[in-house]
Amino acid sequence: MSNFPGWLRCVLCSGTVSLDSDEYLCGCGGSYEVVNELGSCPTSEWMRAEERAGDGGVWKYQELVLRSLPRDKIVSHGEGNTPLFEHPRLTKECGLARLFWKHEGYNPTGSFKDRGMTVAVSWALYRGAKALACASTGNTAASMASYAALAGVPAIVFLPEGEIALGKLAQALEYGARVVLVRGADGGSGTFDDAMELVQRAAKAFGLALMNSVNPFRLEGQKTIVWELLVQCAQRRALPDWIVVPGGNLGNTSAFGKALRELPDFWLGVKTPRLAVIQAEDSNPFYQGFLEGFKAPRRVENPQTVATAIRIGAPKNWDKAVAAIRFTNGVVEEVTDLEIMLAKSRLGKEGIGAEPASAATLAGIWKLRKRGVIKSGESVAAILTGHVLKDPAAIVEYHTGSRRGASSQPPITIAPYMDEVARVVEAVLKSQ
Ligand code: F0G
Repeated sequence: MSNFPGWLRCVLCSGTVSLDSDEYLCGCGGSYEVVNELGSCPTSEWMRAEERAGDGGVWKYQELVLRSLPRDKIVSHGEGNTPLFEHPRLTKECGLARLFWKHEGYNPTGSFKDRGMTVAVSWALYRGAKALACASTGNTAASMASYAALAGVPAIVFLPEGEIALGKLAQALEYGARVVLVRGADGGSGTFDDAMELVQRAAKAFGLALMNSVNPFRLEGQKTIVWELLVQCAQRRALPDWIVVPGGNLGNTSAFGKALRELPDFWLGVKTPRLAVIQAEDSNPFYQGFLEGFKAPRRVENPQTVATAIRIGAPKNWDKAVAAIRFTNGVVEEVTDLEIMLAKSRLGKEGIGAEPASAATLAGIWKLRKRGVIKSGESVAAILTGHVLKDPAAIVEYHTGSRRGASSQPPITIAPYMDEVARVVEAVLKSQ
């Protein structure tokens, strides 16, 4: 065993290995999670973290995230400390007491991935990693590429060909990662699931440090979304009954469950929010599993959705995510692509904006309210996982295309004359 405090523990058989093990999967097939030797957060550590306001949203919780890392080994862009919004019109429309929006698009590379990446990259480099690798639907790649560039180590990202939103691909290229596009086995467009299998094998074969959420240190950083959120809600005098989050590879779901499990006692005495995980209809293995009581992991072949971030058929964090749903008495819901895009443009109208996967939260809230699962008068916090500019093509296509049922607002082309301007302005003013 190493000298590091804490260890990695298998979520299925409870077997443990040293914290500096390179293995993220136990021999029994279960995945490892980080166990801090402190167990759940002692109140004193929590209070100390809260006082460290200037340290960024992830590393102010260092004792509860990764004690073993020397502070001068932290690779950070100043992630976390993301804003919490409330939009009273939307809250009212949804029939809720409070509706909070935690916008993770305000992280340095525009998604929540940065919170996990700062931890996983710092740890990997501290332990001597020479190169980083990941498979990705786009945001993990953008984030990892950025942190690798910051630290000056090579990065290789494996992306499903033809399925990456433009903003994310652009970021990975700009930050200097070697971008590998993986085709489908049948020559068609690629899938995240194929890319994921490849990168896991490549990481083993070539000693690359794997930065996907199978890396348990990623999840440690992502716990801070929930901790930060609860503190912000408490400051606004309303703890949420529900936390709503989109689900793809189920890293966030797992991290959120762990964050809630590890809350210090004084929080648990107050209220444990229930998790609601939202999946896209044709990429919905976790939803299918939920319907049958999580008998066994489900898989969707050839998953599809406009929300490419969550176009995943075989989520890698299944067992941890099931534990999170059970621990929080949570639910899983599915929504259609049209519902996602309607929700997205509704968020846009509040001036928030987020990428399609993030908007699945509002679509999910609509559906869960309609079904009476989320009750009128309850309080909800939703996680907007990625920035609006991640996927500009989806927006332009929605507003200019012919998606059935869309309430789009296409641009108007005019000749350079004032009478044409007048027609447009008068119509806009009349619509107020
Ligand atoms: N929202 C966004 C914007 C994402 O990029 C992702 C995942 C999710 C939600 C789902 O989160 O996997 O923790 O359930 N994106 C990964 C990627 C898969 O490669 O960027 P999850």
